[in-house]
Amino acid sequence: MSTYARLPVEFERGEGIWLWDTEGRQYLDALSGIAVCGLGHAHPEVARAIAEQAGQLIHTSNLYGIPHQRLLADRLCELSGMERVFFCNSGAEANEAAIKIARLYGHSRGIDMPAIVVMENSFHGRTLATLTATGNRKVQAGFEPLVQGFVRVPYNDLDAIRKVAQNSDDVVAVLVEPVQGEGGINVPDENYLVELRRLCDEHSWLLMLDEIQSGMGRTGAWFAYQHAGIQPDVVGLAKALGNGVPVGACLARGEAAGMLTPGSHGTTFGGNPLATRAALAVLDIMQQDDLVAAAGARGRQLLAGFRDRLGELPGIVSIRGLGMMIGIELDRPCAELVGNALNRGLLINVTAERVVRLLPPLITTEHQAEMIIEKVSELIQEFLTETNT
Ligand SMILES: Cc1ncc(COP(=O)(O)O)c(C=O)c1O
Repeated sequence: MSTYARLPVEFERGEGIWLWDTEGRQYLDALSGIAVCGLGHAHPEVARAIAEQAGQLIHTSNLYGIPHQRLLADRLCELSGMERVFFCNSGAEANEAAIKIARLYGHSRGIDMPAIVVMENSFHGRTLATLTATGNRKVQAGFEPLVQGFVRVPYNDLDAIRKVAQNSDDVVAVLVEPVQGEGGINVPDENYLVELRRLCDEHSWLLMLDEIQSGMGRTGAWFAYQHAGIQPDVVGLAKALGNGVPVGACLARGEAAGMLTPGSHGTTFGGNPLATRAALAVLDIMQQDDLVAAAGARGRQLLAGFRDRLGELPGIVSIRGLGMMIGIELDRPCAELVGNALNRGLLINVTAERVVRLLPPLITTEHQAEMIIEKVSELIQEFLTETNT
């Protein structure tokens, strides 16, 4: 189906931060398949783990125990401070699990119509519940009737949430991205998550964090909430967890961790031996190579580099980010930059119409980060000059 407006290129192979198309042209990938290939392309240890597992056992069913799934759950809980994990296959599904947990939690507290606070400019996925949670009318248009039970407030606005608390007895949870990705790389104020945690505690709401884009080391911490020193009740992961092998996870702790019981939720492929073995290899490599710290360092280098090169230019509204989630906001729509970049052998993305979004692999070297700064700055400078005249 014509679901995607595809760019006119097809890739054949990759290595690290590089891709080659079917004509043999080389590209620098500053997008990582939208925050998926944190370890770059064709990582030999990931490839070996997948091949080995494929030769041994790909799938059984969640009717049976799955040793790699158990190991992966333990490792994720240890890294995140969470207690239990439900495995699925995508980000939307991780959020669906979170939404179902919130509703069960609400009913367990005697609330018949539980509501979840969600944010403007958020993105949570394309299923009916997650597109309803998403704060973007374009994502929702045509799919009405939407799902009930969501209350929307502006992002990074604690007073708006305090007002909701005053006016509604049905709220049971807050679902929020620690850094908004699709919404334009929006980094909230430093105390935002701390204060959200406090508000959730005060009202016995679940704090549910969508770390699907910001998780798995991308921001320079395993999970972005760790920068704030708080502990959420529910966390959604996917994207970089399998470095391209589809695997998602919904992590929970405390009361939230006990909501799903046999028969209340499930999915055929969720956490199968192949997917969980791949994710275990990803965690091994990230730990061996200290890639979380590397992402922090490269992210600071990229931000400083862009601020230095572009910061003073008229036409640049803001250069922002956390770790290797970088956004450069222009004062004009700039979607055509994606095609311009492609013509020069560079993969970038534009989101929220005016924000150049960069999500390079965490394995990007210092030298490669300089190349990204150079190439992207040149591209933006030229675009601003051309569109000024
Ligand atoms: C923050 C966030 N949540 C959820 C999703 C949906 O994930 P998926 O496309 O794997 O369903 C995305 C995808 O871009 C995302 O960035």
